[in-house]
Amino acid sequence: MKIAPSIICADVTRLGEEIRDLEAAGADLLHFDIMDGMFVPNITFGPFLVEALRDETDLPFLVHLMIQEPDRYIEKFAISGANIISVHAESTQHLHRTLQMIRTFDVFPGVALNPTTPLTFVDYVLEFVDLVSVMGVNPGFAGQAFIPSVLRKIRALRDMIDMRGLDVKIEVDGGMRPDLVPDVVSAGADIVVGGASIFVPGTDYAESIGRLRARQQQAVG
Ligand code: DX5
Ligand code: ZN
Repeated sequence: MKIAPSIICADVTRLGEEIRDLEAAGADLLHFDIMDGMFVPNITFGPFLVEALRDETDLPFLVHLMIQEPDRYIEKFAISGANIISVHAESTQHLHRTLQMIRTFDVFPGVALNPTTPLTFVDYVLEFVDLVSVMGVNPGFAGQAFIPSVLRKIRALRDMIDMRGLDVKIEVDGGMRPDLVPDVVSAGADIVVGGASIFVPGTDYAESIGRLRARQQQAVG
């Protein structure tokens, strides 16, 4: 299981330091939530921040685009240093074209699904992605509660991927807490995003990341 801290939860007045601390604490990759105030009711930041932080670490940057018409910004995020770009299946008319565009920049393409979006949205997409981000919460904010029905979706997605013999990673994004790790890993998750569960006031990152990682042992299957 890989752990991806969600950067919007970090101390934005010290982001460079925060990223170095997260790396030292055992983060496997960093998750950048990009929001445009249209696709989701919140606004965060653009490519400039990814670029500004790129040289602070060698950790992979996963850029999660919660924006309308993501094609407009694929190149900018790719040039800024994204290693993986995940776009919402619900946010673009021509998903296949968007995914192909990501790959032309030597960036791994991912597709993200809102909690109630059915897996049929990725039926003809799985062969073109390296990652599926399954939202555990309604996108737009950190610190929300995990929606239990998503567990069933993770399990069904893992079966879909395995049945086709594909090497597609499953990222669970939103609402993750240590007590949920055994279930989501048993259901087939490869990457767990941590926002509120990692950026806990008064707790150092090695401890909060360690708490998530420790629960992985309890996963079955
Ligand atoms: C929600 C974002 C998530 C979120 C994770 O729109 O995509 O990455 O910030 O934070 P927690 O783990 O607190 O839900
Ligand atoms: Zn996210």
